[in-house]
Formats: sequence, C-alpha cells, structure tokens
Amino acid sequence: MDERTEPAVALCPSAELVEKGIAHVFEVLHFREPARAFVLRFDGRLVAYLNRCLHVPTEMDWQYGEFLDSGKEFILCSTHGAAYEPQTGRCAGGPCGRGKLTAMDVEERGGQVYWYPSRDTRPAFAD
Ligand code: FES
Repeated sequence: MDERTEPAVALCPSAELVEKGIAHVFEVLHFREPARAFVLRFDGRLVAYLNRCLHVPTEMDWQYGEFLDSGKEFILCSTHGAAYEPQTGRCAGGPCGRGKLTAMDVEERGGQVYWYPSRDTRPAFAD
C-alpha cells in the first residue's frame, strides 16, 4: 500500500456497511480513467477494491453494490464467475489467474468510513 499522502475522503457512515451486506460504491480516477471502487464489511472489517475484474477489465457487481456470492464467502464476478477472497482480493477460483484485485486504503473512525486516495487512484472530482 502506498504511503498516505492525500487527505482522507469521507465515503459513508459506518452503519451503512452491515456485515456481508451491500457495498458502498464510489467513483474514482484510476490512472486518470474514470472507474468505480467499492467498500464492504466482511468478518467485521472493511475491505475495499477497485471494481474491476482481473479476467476482463469490467465491473463485477451483480446488482449495484452486490459483490458477494450467495453463500457470502467470496467476491464473485457477475460476468464469468471469477471468485476472489474478500480479505485479500486474491483469485480463489475461476478465470482470474494468479492476480489480486486492486486494494483501496480505507479506515473507519468516529462512525465514518474514509478512503485514502493513492498516486494511481484518485478522487473522481480531482484534476
Ligand atoms: S470478467 Fe470477471 S470473470 Fe470474466
């Protein structure tokens, strides 16, 4: 993870992210291209990734903000079923190879969820 050089961006109240529930989806610029990222709560902690499958660079949610499989064990790409470990973003099965989802640096404090942009992934409203 990059060193934090950017101010935190407030994303949503902590209470919005229930355990293994709907993710909060947010707009970013990834290498200056518009993209989305998401944060969800899994095993009590926040996990956040760029919403981009490793198989084909497409968004993964089934419905807006729904990333988990029916058993709520994996982040599952809705296009061809690549499965990712929520805690690490590593490919756990399907056509995603040996890679990992691109992690976003998030934290929660004071009942609020924050994202720390990086050099590569910046707020959508930045330059
Ligand atoms: S695009 Fe995600 S599994 Fe093919």
